[in-house]
Amino acid sequence: MSAPPAVATSPELGFSSQEREVELDALEVTGEVPAWLGGSLLRTGPSRFEVGEQRLRHWFDGLAMLHRFTIHGGRVSYGCRSLEGRTLAAARDQGRIAYGEFATDPCRSLFKRVQTLFAPEFSDNANVNVMRLGERYVAMTEAPIPVQFDRRTLRAAGVAYKPPGELTTAHPHLDRASGGMINYAAKLGPRSTYRFFHLGPDESTPRVLSSMPVREPAYMHSFGQTERFLVLVEFPFVVNPLSLALSGRPYIENYRWRPERGTIVTLLDRNTGAAAHRFQTDACFSFHHVNAFERDGEVLVDMCVYPDAKVISDLYLDRLRDGATISPAALTRYRLRPADGSLRASTLADTDIELPRINYRRCHERPHRYVWGNAQGGSGWLERIVKVDTEDGTHIAWSQEGCYPGEPVFVAAPGADREDEGVLLSVVLDAAAERSFLLVLDASDLGELARAQVPHHIPFSFHGQFASHPEEG
Ligand SMILES: [Fe+2]
Repeated sequence: MSAPPAVATSPELGFSSQEREVELDALEVTGEVPAWLGGSLLRTGPSRFEVGEQRLRHWFDGLAMLHRFTIHGGRVSYGCRSLEGRTLAAARDQGRIAYGEFATDPCRSLFKRVQTLFAPEFSDNANVNVMRLGERYVAMTEAPIPVQFDRRTLRAAGVAYKPPGELTTAHPHLDRASGGMINYAAKLGPRSTYRFFHLGPDESTPRVLSSMPVREPAYMHSFGQTERFLVLVEFPFVVNPLSLALSGRPYIENYRWRPERGTIVTLLDRNTGAAAHRFQTDACFSFHHVNAFERDGEVLVDMCVYPDAKVISDLYLDRLRDGATISPAALTRYRLRPADGSLRASTLADTDIELPRINYRRCHERPHRYVWGNAQGGSGWLERIVKVDTEDGTHIAWSQEGCYPGEPVFVAAPGADREDEGVLLSVVLDAAAERSFLLVLDASDLGELARAQVPHHIPFSFHGQFASHPEEG
């Protein structure tokens, strides 16, 4: 007897291209999507990893595609469209990588590099996150070109605004007072500065809130925010701005790990922009702040923390496609006490966790109890959806053999009393079936409510947001 053919259950398919643009009115749904859930899960992520003969090198480099799962009356429609812009145009029309990505460089000559030093040409490959700003929807990455798009058609509609710097984050925070956003930018030059800026819901010109000089800026993927403070955490993974401009190396390969500097946490006063308090702790690294808030004279800052920046090199595509494992992140709480300058760090959960989400509308800048995210399984990739109870450090999990869930986005139930009353929406790769599905879980016990099948695989993506529009299909 011959052995049955091996069924692929490893996650590598999540790192292979899927460029087909589709518009599907009704996905096949099993289970029951809650009737109250009305709106669209909007996501961005890499979808294409080759351009002509060239291969993009890192998970963060892939050319962006927007995804829309629209839920109404228990039905789910799906659409996806490549993010239109100059990066995609160069790839489609000229078959070349024309702009530098996170870890892939277009191999410019020294002359061209000096030229672009004075007039930088950034990629508009906004493949990291999306946000709603007033009535606008914007796709974002760390290059300073946030791209507005139409929620229904997913067509790009130009640059939304111009951040006041050359580097920014795709993790802005809500400014509750204005309904606008606050974000970070690094202004690079002979005198570089860290900046925070505000943008109102209907504005296109940012207002700088705070500017802090820095010689070698740290890599910054997100930041924290409390009612009174902006929380800037400088991990010792830093760059010399001149080398960034002239080295010819891909962007992230200019950063250096300098553990002797430790990690510096600065609290900036949101009213004055001044650096109000500064703390120092051991060297570490993080992509994602989870939440920050003030309680009993302390500022509590939760992050998914790694001992060093090795996770960035873990995410090169060659490694991932070979099935290499990635570093696990620990949910870590920093307790900062401005009165005496002390800082204490503690681990909050008995599981690793990445791509963290909270009940943001309710808990942003305020105490939270629950954190949802993805955790590793036996493959060394993210295989589980977890819910952490930060009060007792325990967690519960959802998983299914051969399935690889993405970031679980929390959507609160209407009129919810409890913090965890609502659903989680996660795009899951079913490796054996070679396709993906939208999973709807009860956020409180991670029980499965429904799944909606997509007829093809969706490459692993980073972040998305749920845009509520319950009255409209
Ligand atoms: Fe992120």
